[in-house]
Amino acid sequence: MPGIAVSILFCLIVSTQALFPDDPVPCKYGDGKCIANFANTLFSKRSGKEDPSLNLWQLDPLKVDKMVINQAGNSAVGIKLTFTDNMLYGIKDQRVVGVKGFGKNLTEQHELRVLAKSYSLVGPYNIQGKVLILPISGTGVSNMSMSNIKMIIRFSGQPLEKDGETYLDVTNFKLTLKPASNSYLFTNLFNGDKALGDNMNAFLNENSDAIYQETSQSTDRAFSDLFLGLVKGVFAHRPYAKLFMEEKL
Ligand SMILES: *[C@@H]1O[C@H](CO)[C@@H](O)[C@H](O)[C@H]1NC(C)=O
Ligand SMILES: *[C@@H]1O[C@H](CO)[C@@H](O)[C@H](O)[C@H]1NC(C)=O
Repeated sequence: MPGIAVSILFCLIVSTQALFPDDPVPCKYGDGKCIANFANTLFSKRSGKEDPSLNLWQLDPLKVDKMVINQAGNSAVGIKLTFTDNMLYGIKDQRVVGVKGFGKNLTEQHELRVLAKSYSLVGPYNIQGKVLILPISGTGVSNMSMSNIKMIIRFSGQPLEKDGETYLDVTNFKLTLKPASNSYLFTNLFNGDKALGDNMNAFLNENSDAIYQETSQSTDRAFSDLFLGLVKGVFAHRPYAKLFMEEKL
């Protein structure tokens, strides 16, 4: 009889394990290593499909309905660059390398340091404005890429009570991106004038560091809006206490 019990137990373990072979275990409050592991498993193994348990849609490629890089003012680059129905590639290869916060006190500051090999935002664009001294305009398909990116995300939270549970309502969300290099490809610039368009693409890539410097604040803001949506979604979906495991005494 014990043999049967053991084999039933064994089957149960095997079948539950087989359901979610890569399921990471919940982390203790403030356990940065575990939280980084959890996130990295999510990126590397599960970013290809949505994850209803965390209220996440597909992460790679990530649908970007709209992103606007609006660099106004007196800088050397004055552009309004609008991306619609784009895809962002690269989240599956990003890794969390540092975590602070996520303790019991949800109002303290939380921080994630992330390294990403590359981000490519690909899809329809519209651009108007000037770059350094040259006017630029166009509507077509673009690929704006960055590589070897260091990203820091910081946010704090306030408690949000709902149905007797406490959720973390994300506030003060700030993100900075530092790519080692970046590149641009805009098809169909200047109403499809190929010579002008080719020259402009070459010019943008020759000056990509300077252009990135001039547009980094608006790029950070645009990516903040995008990633804030993801982070807010996760914390709005599950009570804060249920994202973590109580430490056993
Ligand atoms: C939680 O963190 C906030 C911000 O750091 C601090 O002001 C507050 O006193 C903390 N609350 C507790 C109960 O430790
Ligand atoms: C976008 O550009 C990057 C950098 O040149 C390239 O590696 C990537 O394959 C391109 N993506 C698409 C979908 O064309």
